[in-house]
Amino acid sequence: MRSASASAPGKFVVLGEHAVVYGKPAVALAIDRRFRCTVSESSRLLLNGVPDDLSLHPHMSNILKANGVGKISIVTESDLPSGSGLGSSAALSAALSCAVRTMLGKPADEKDVIGEAYDAEFGAQGIGSPMDTSASVHGGGIGVNIPCDGEPLWTIERNGNRWDVCDVHAPEMTFVVGYTGIKALTGPLVERVRRYKDRNSFAKDIVDEIGSVTLEGADALRRNDRVKLGKLMTADHKLLSILGVSGPELNRLVDAAAEYSYGAKLTGAGGGGSMIALTDRPEKVCETIRLHGGTPMIVNTGVPGVKAGKTS
Ligand code: PMV
Repeated sequence: MRSASASAPGKFVVLGEHAVVYGKPAVALAIDRRFRCTVSESSRLLLNGVPDDLSLHPHMSNILKANGVGKISIVTESDLPSGSGLGSSAALSAALSCAVRTMLGKPADEKDVIGEAYDAEFGAQGIGSPMDTSASVHGGGIGVNIPCDGEPLWTIERNGNRWDVCDVHAPEMTFVVGYTGIKALTGPLVERVRRYKDRNSFAKDIVDEIGSVTLEGADALRRNDRVKLGKLMTADHKLLSILGVSGPELNRLVDAAAEYSYGAKLTGAGGGGSMIALTDRPEKVCETIRLHGGTPMIVNTGVPGVKAGKTS
């Protein structure tokens, strides 16, 4: 019986979420929290040992369809709460694509996995950029539509948007994630911003401004200028709030962390999920996040992307 395992990391968005859906720049870093899965040939479709038709798991069914696989056993394990803004569905799509391809003896390097994983994400959500999937597949740091040192890793085009994705070597910086505990679905939040932007030129200006802030921030990140990067992160949070994707819980954690940070903002789709703070005082930020009702995590970056094999 053939079987294979793979894993892929979650991510946080340093700058540029939502605007990246319309081809604006973004920067995301992979984190040391992973999604793992093991697949094996089976006489029926099983998810974590239980028969399942995957109707509630469109990312998974899209990957199986892309590989012409019907009956299979999938066992999953994740360090990433779903709906936490940390890219759990992209990590799932990347890890499952890599595991299934490896089991079938197909090539499963990052360039083989990215298209399939992004198609699974896009098919499940109906909207969205390849930023999350790229961060999860490549690991380390990625920039979208920012000036690249060298060739892009890959270019993806869809619905009139184009995303050139390149490797970003981020210097060592400490980020603290604060999870609100509120699960938020990415698709409806992205759709809400799209509707707002389509009927309101003011919202379109905000999306453009997020793009400019992100370009400046990508440069500050490369130069290791934490003060500038932090200020731009906080500015980005304000712009995202104007787009309507923050909320009282996120604002409470962002405000609380601000005192001990260079800057703080929501990360990912918003509406709940998580915020991040760039800080030299991680213990203090964790304490204040806890005091304000959030769950803190000190995350490490510079981690590998999708890979076949078992990982702890
Ligand atoms: O919350 P997450 O991890 O699904 O991140 C979504 C990022 C968005 O920019 C809001 C959407 C996208 O497809 O880029």
